[in-house]
Amino acid sequence: MVSPTAAEEKPEVLIAAARIRARVVELGAEITRDYSGRRLVLVGVLKGSFVFLADLARAIDLPLEVDFMGISTYEGRRSTGVVRITVDLTRPIEDKDVLLVEDIVDSGLTMGYLLENLATRRPRSLEVCALLEKPGAARRGKPIAYRGFPIEDRFVVGYGLDQDERFRNLPYVGFVR
Ligand code: IMP
Repeated sequence: MVSPTAAEEKPEVLIAAARIRARVVELGAEITRDYSGRRLVLVGVLKGSFVFLADLARAIDLPLEVDFMGISTYEGRRSTGVVRITVDLTRPIEDKDVLLVEDIVDSGLTMGYLLENLATRRPRSLEVCALLEKPGAARRGKPIAYRGFPIEDRFVVGYGLDQDERFRNLPYVGFVR
């Protein structure tokens, strides 16, 4: 039984499930067009990207591989600034077209670290697809090739994103008051 307390805590909707669905279909079509005839590997960043990646993969009409990198940077709501690989790729990416799939890019620390790490493995190409992007004025380096939605600088949950492991299964992106 779901307790009344749990029901009351339901986050407010920021991006509704239908909007996410429509945008994921658009991103999938764009990626399908851009990578036609190439060997695409989607690299999902655990854990937050697992929902987005599952939907995105099905919106891409190309033969592709899926792999994951696990990384830990966040504790609760504050970035610790410490990046650590907890899960590594299962297969080489040399000479392959790699698309790093992120749930959200905030400071860009995670993305920058992963891009640097993946580049050393000599992929044919390396781009980023992120569902959400926060303003992150200080961000340097590679621009995000495929971006779902720009959002304001606030803490969001749902559609894979968590607050201390909660809310990942919400079908929408929301915020906790
Ligand atoms: P960055 O390294 O600062 O860009 O942070 C990226 C990672 O921090 C994401 O992959 C998320 O795991 C986490 N993160 C950043 N902002 C949020 C948020 O608003 N909600 C949940 N997780 C977030």
